[in-house]
Amino acid sequence: MVKNFRQSVLLVLVIISVSFHFSEQLQSSQVQTLLRIQHLLNSPAILSSWNDDTDFCNTEPSLSLTVVCYDESVTQLHIIGNKKIPPLPKNFSIDSFFTTLVRIPSLKVLTLVSLGLWGPLPGKISRLSSLEILNMSSNFLFGSIPQEISSLTNLQTLILDDNMFNGKLPDWLISLSVLSVLSLKKNSLNGTFPESLGSLNNLRILALSDNHFSGEVPDLSSLTNLQVLDLENNSLGPQFPRLGVKIVTLVLSKNKFSAGIPDKVSSYYQLQKLDISFNRFVAPFPPSILALPSITYLSIAGNRFTGMLFKNQSCNSELEFVDFSSNLLTGKLPNCFESNSKKTAVLYAGNCLSTGEKNQHPFSFCRNEALAVGILPHRRKPERESRLGLALSISGGIIGGVVLVSLAFVIFRRVHLKQTRGRTLPRLIAENASTGYNSKLLSDARYISQAMKLGALGIPAYRAFSLEELEQATDNFDTSTFLDEGSHGQMYRGHLKDGSVVAIRCMKMKRRHGTQSFMHHIELISKLRHWHLVSALGHCFECYLDDSSVSRLFLVFEYVRNGTLRSWLSERRGRRTLTWAQRISAAIGVAKGIQFLHTGIVPSIFSNNLKITDVVLDQNFVAKISSYNLPFVAESLGKVGLQISSGGSKELDNKRVRHDEKSDIYDFGLILLEIIVGRPFNSMNEVGSVRDQLQKIATADNAARKSIVDPAIHNAYSDESLKTMMEICSRCLLNNPEDRPSIEDVLWNLQFAAQVQEAWRGDSQSSDGSPVLHFQPPRRQINLQ
Ligand SMILES: *[C@@H]1O[C@H](CO)[C@@H](O)[C@H](O)[C@H]1NC(C)=O
Ligand SMILES: *[C@@H]1O[C@H](CO)[C@@H](O)[C@H](O)[C@H]1NC(C)=O
Ligand SMILES: *[C@@H]1O[C@H](CO)[C@@H](O)[C@H](O)[C@H]1NC(C)=O
Ligand SMILES: *[C@@H]1O[C@H](CO)[C@@H](O)[C@H](O)[C@H]1NC(C)=O
Ligand SMILES: *[C@@H]1O[C@H](CO)[C@@H](O)[C@H](O)[C@H]1NC(C)=O
Repeated sequence: MVKNFRQSVLLVLVIISVSFHFSEQLQSSQVQTLLRIQHLLNSPAILSSWNDDTDFCNTEPSLSLTVVCYDESVTQLHIIGNKKIPPLPKNFSIDSFFTTLVRIPSLKVLTLVSLGLWGPLPGKISRLSSLEILNMSSNFLFGSIPQEISSLTNLQTLILDDNMFNGKLPDWLISLSVLSVLSLKKNSLNGTFPESLGSLNNLRILALSDNHFSGEVPDLSSLTNLQVLDLENNSLGPQFPRLGVKIVTLVLSKNKFSAGIPDKVSSYYQLQKLDISFNRFVAPFPPSILALPSITYLSIAGNRFTGMLFKNQSCNSELEFVDFSSNLLTGKLPNCFESNSKKTAVLYAGNCLSTGEKNQHPFSFCRNEALAVGILPHRRKPERESRLGLALSISGGIIGGVVLVSLAFVIFRRVHLKQTRGRTLPRLIAENASTGYNSKLLSDARYISQAMKLGALGIPAYRAFSLEELEQATDNFDTSTFLDEGSHGQMYRGHLKDGSVVAIRCMKMKRRHGTQSFMHHIELISKLRHWHLVSALGHCFECYLDDSSVSRLFLVFEYVRNGTLRSWLSERRGRRTLTWAQRISAAIGVAKGIQFLHTGIVPSIFSNNLKITDVVLDQNFVAKISSYNLPFVAESLGKVGLQISSGGSKELDNKRVRHDEKSDIYDFGLILLEIIVGRPFNSMNEVGSVRDQLQKIATADNAARKSIVDPAIHNAYSDESLKTMMEICSRCLLNNPEDRPSIEDVLWNLQFAAQVQEAWRGDSQSSDGSPVLHFQPPRRQINLQ
């Protein structure tokens, strides 16, 4: 549209210049003015041909320099400088420049683009009272757009793109009754649009992209000539703009529009380009848009559009480009993209379409997200106060929110500690409350072994929770369900409808972010599920009603209730301790958790800074790591936690990965040491000397080993098993990371120790019934020892 328009301007310009080509002689005063302008512009290269002898009215017009005369006066002046020009020097005065310029009052068309002009646009521009077209793009003009422009009643086109104007969109624009093009892209204008915008009846092009406008777009439906509306990259919304049906290009991307696409859009028969990407739409996508008679370009990427696409969906045969990426669409890609004359280019990653490709989420993801945002029929959520309880999915990474997660785990731990110390928390968990999984099943070791092989966690699939659900689970976050408070939020205990108990971390968001910005992190969190990790079960967003940014993020975790590993070893305070078999089992659990973090997910998670207090036990004494190095925690703290192979030396990368891997092995060694010896070690020196001792006595006689092992386990262990544990423990604690064993090596040794212990126990005493030996190491592995 703009292009057509420019072409016609140029055409008019050429016709005028041709018809008067040989007849015009410019008034000498205007010649002087033009030469003065050349000087004031610091004699740019583009004007180098101008001098006292130049016949201004009869020079060849070019794309960058054109002077058009009529009746011995200049009516058009086009000077277009170099794109990357810096501001004119300090001695340039915009005021003097305009004082000179207004001496050509006959100017109808003025283009002063990329000339380095700087300063506030002077009000005296109003003296150019014949002005019809003004284009002063790509300069350094600042301040507000002067009100004096309102007296330029012939002005049809006002283009001030790519400057530094600030302030509001003026409401005196209404005086420009013939204005048909208003383009103020790439400035720093802010505030809301004046209602009067809807009365500029001649407006054809309205381009206000890349500013800081906010609030609702006023009703533009009476602008029946409006063909181009470009509002990209502002903070407008949430209501979809109301427009006349003749709109041709509609660009709303990167704003805060969230209310759905109105039905009226299906009557936009001239609509060619619709770009509503990267907004906050939470609504069904009407596929009929694909079949609009003129549509050639459609992008809805980066929203939360739901709905099902069908193979038999028809689309406009001229459709060239469609971007569905990152929404919640299900179903199949329509065949019409393939079969139409233009062979539509389609982008659709990050949906739940059944395309058989990896770039799609599982169907359940989209369904749950959709349920959680409450946009399915009959699932609309009531509004609450000024907020809409949109339990949107996907979450994550804001620094605050994120540090939290690790705190959440810390708090788990503290809760457990408190419990085991017998301190009364507000209304402790009812003894018989059911857990997330069936504990009878857990006591069947064989079953567990099977389930573990199959990867069945015994916890429900990761999902988005709705806010109502969490409110119900916590009795509206009643104080009686309150567990603990960290610096970043509160922890509540919740009873879900299915009877399971969960821990819910509630985090208030300070900065305003849409749910989109959390998506990546939530995807990572949702992968951190393993038998030997305290797993995340899901999340929930609460959003502000006004701009749908996230007000609170809830993370829902497994509730692991049997205390930390340390509380069963060195802090047991008279309580019975773990048997040797249970200790080996716990060690194997921790090692498996580490193995999962290193090799079970992409990207791997290293440098977990594991402590024995971060290992919690469930009621069946299954060990779970509660405070692993959550990717975004590392990110936000600038730690190197994520080893995503990047550019650079592969060898170096490998080395670093190996090293980080081995720091987890050392931490594991410390945990193992406490498991064996039954007391904590506080100094590196002490650890070093005990390690050396272990190394020696691993090969000495059993009396020496007995002297160091936790006396609480009496003689209830196989010496061969203890020997293996001591040996692997001392290797884990070696100073040189390269010398420490791999996690696989560790696991083989532990499993060997477990099997030896089981054989010994079978021989010497009856089973204590604890489900310890789920781990039947394959013979092959044992033979490797
Ligand atoms: C500005 O200063 C430069 C030298 O620094 C000079 O060449 C130029 O003519 C001056 N421009 C004006 C408009 O005075
Ligand atoms: C303003 O003029 C420049 C130079 O001719 C041109 O590139 C730009 O497209 C014009 N702006 C509009 C909105 O027509
Ligand atoms: C608009 O920007 C100005 C500074 O240019 C600032 O003082 C003002 O508060 C902003 N107004 C809004 C509504 O953001
Ligand atoms: C959005 O506009 C601002 C200026 O208002 C600009 O600084 C920023 O680069 C733009 N962002 C994008 C993604 O275009
Ligand atoms: C497209 O197919 C779906 C089922 O696959 C059917 O329900 C629908 O009516 C069909 N639509 C058209 C226009 O044929």
